[in-house]
Amino acid sequence: MSKMWGGRFEGGLDPYFEEFNRSTDFDCELAHFDLLVNAAWAAALGHAGVLEADEVERICAALETLREQWSEEGLLISDTTEDIHSFIEQQLTELVGDLARKLHTGRSRNDQVATDLRLYLFERVAMIMNEARDLIASLLEVAEQHSATPLPGYTHLQRAQPITVGHHALAYVEMFGRDLSRFTDLWERADYCPLGSAALAGTAFPIDRDALAESLEFTQGATRNSLDAVSDRDHVCEALFCCSMVMIHLSRLAEDYIFFASHEARFLEFSDLVATGSSLMPQKKNPDAMELIRGKTGRVAGSLQAILMTLKGLPLAYNKDLQEDKEGLFDGLQQTESCLIVAATAVRSTTWHEERCREACEHGYLNATDLADFCVRNGMPFRDAHEAVGAAVRRALELGVELHDMSDEELTSLFPALDLAVMRDALAVEGVLARRDVLGGTAPSRVAEECARWRAEVESWKV
Ligand code: ARG
Repeated sequence: MSKMWGGRFEGGLDPYFEEFNRSTDFDCELAHFDLLVNAAWAAALGHAGVLEADEVERICAALETLREQWSEEGLLISDTTEDIHSFIEQQLTELVGDLARKLHTGRSRNDQVATDLRLYLFERVAMIMNEARDLIASLLEVAEQHSATPLPGYTHLQRAQPITVGHHALAYVEMFGRDLSRFTDLWERADYCPLGSAALAGTAFPIDRDALAESLEFTQGATRNSLDAVSDRDHVCEALFCCSMVMIHLSRLAEDYIFFASHEARFLEFSDLVATGSSLMPQKKNPDAMELIRGKTGRVAGSLQAILMTLKGLPLAYNKDLQEDKEGLFDGLQQTESCLIVAATAVRSTTWHEERCREACEHGYLNATDLADFCVRNGMPFRDAHEAVGAAVRRALELGVELHDMSDEELTSLFPALDLAVMRDALAVEGVLARRDVLGGTAPSRVAEECARWRAEVESWKV
């Protein structure tokens, strides 16, 4: 078929290179947005006096016909077109004949694809943000239900101090909340329309670029420098960074849940919705959903690296290297969205073994800090208290018991001046949790307060 740029050439393309050069297999994702951009450009050419009103109408009607046709039959692309832009021009030619040859006046595929890509990005980012909100809602449900359920907290993967299941869930709510704000931030910075920048120098026709930007619903207006506009892919990098950050958070959530589901921990059990069995070992229930999420994190972060390296040292303005911006972006957005959906299902359907969680808090000296704090409240300098409790833990380890299970004699010999009954009381899990009654702390009352704050936020998303 004829190329968009055939005039200067005598010979044909090497068939292997022709295939290598084609982007239609993946940039067909932009088809819908390319129709919108074509229609907006036709209208802008009409306003600029380049096209007659009836020509604009015929082009827009034909674009609408294509849209309807594709939504009914799906997009069928002949495998000879170079990219989605050539394909659409070819389809348009079939519908309106030579008139289609006027549409590319004053523009380039460079500003066209840059515009398509931003519109695509906004649609996909909106979808990801919705799924991130749903995941936040699912975590919040866990937090509300378990605002007071004790859970061993870890540092260095060693039992450290008790927290609540709710506090753990809200930690992830905070992370995904930040992710949402990162997407909002990127959106604002990217919400400028490159169309009218043409190949690199700006269009030579009297296009009202602000009106054009508005017609495509860019809220910040038109881009301010044509060279930058056609070669800027900051928003691709930013989107992949935002996605990578979501994935990093998801991978940490996945890892926590995988560990919590292990026989060693047994704090929770995945539902059958998101676990699979082994083809060999009949007893297995494997956390495949969470493992796949953890695994896909590398893939999305890899796409971020790829686009950064593509842009490194790239001279102004457009270069064909930029065609490489798409596959990683499309994949990164898709994987992130899918992972958010699967994670929300996993979180919602998980059963927490409350008794087991509570019981685990009573093993592994998670109340040692509270014993030291108790000594401090009874007048001992913290360093001395730390030392004394350290010795107590050593003795307890020798005896194979917990601090709260040591005999009165042992405790009295270790802490001669202290009231044992009050001390034992201070070591109970409920007290340990309740004392973390500080803003951001794990005390059930504070967790409940944070739940209420997030609940208001989640409800505000529904209206
Ligand atoms: N398929 C190209 C891309 O995705 C469209 C722009 C082509 N422009 C050009 N001057 N070859 O980047």
